[in-house]
Amino acid sequence: MKIRTLTLKELKDKGQKFACLTSYDQQTAQIFDEAGIEVLLVGDSASDNVLANSGTVPVTLDEMIAFGRAVARSAKSALVVFDLPFGSYEESASQALANSTRVMKETGVAAVKVEGPRLEQIRKLVDSGIPVMGHVGFTPQSVHALSGYKVQGRDSDAERVLQECLQIEEAGAFAIVLEMIPAALAKEITSKLSIPTIGIGAGPDTDGQILVWMDFAGLGNRNPSFSKQYANLRQVLSDAAKSYRSEVRSGIFPEAEKNFS
Ligand code: KIV
Repeated sequence: MKIRTLTLKELKDKGQKFACLTSYDQQTAQIFDEAGIEVLLVGDSASDNVLANSGTVPVTLDEMIAFGRAVARSAKSALVVFDLPFGSYEESASQALANSTRVMKETGVAAVKVEGPRLEQIRKLVDSGIPVMGHVGFTPQSVHALSGYKVQGRDSDAERVLQECLQIEEAGAFAIVLEMIPAALAKEITSKLSIPTIGIGAGPDTDGQILVWMDFAGLGNRNPSFSKQYANLRQVLSDAAKSYRSEVRSGIFPEAEKNFS
């Protein structure tokens, strides 16, 4: 079954939670899609996880488009969402529309994601037929403005985060990521919004959860405390590389049956 933006709302209404992962390439897109992951986010976390940048700020729209195209071509069922990178939408609604139109035409993704309460941009994109996912709480593109990786929405700041979510829903977003906010606040937001919430470091009561795939597979560099490792691919790949090297050095590989006559 092809997952659409409406499918996520139907899942929320049925009380059925859903799972999202980031993906930036053909292989993980195929594997996660076949495993039934409902949403693949071509996250700007590719910046630090693939391109070895420090943080998400440096990744460019051209780089993100290459990742987006690979994922959209490889996923058959999952909803593929493209994270608009820093500098590609903040200036104006028309900048957001021009860049999102390029993304939709050149990648084949089904939706874009913007960080923060960019209400004019969200309205313009939705009016133009481009589904938008919101993102509030800790927004990594604003890491410098937020003075580092910090939980948002604690105590008197909770009302601000709630109001941002309500405004983003009103502007027409189809879902919203809640990152690094207290679990109780995420629960309250989830109950007050009619669109689905997707948590990362936001407790168990959001409608969906999302993880950065390198963190979930044991390949991450930061390993945030709210994440969970479901496999240790670093170990698997390291063991495979060591076996291969050892077989090359000892002459075991390539075996006779692999040789052309
Ligand atoms: O880029 C990303 O991976 C994200 C998730 C953390 C939601 O925005």
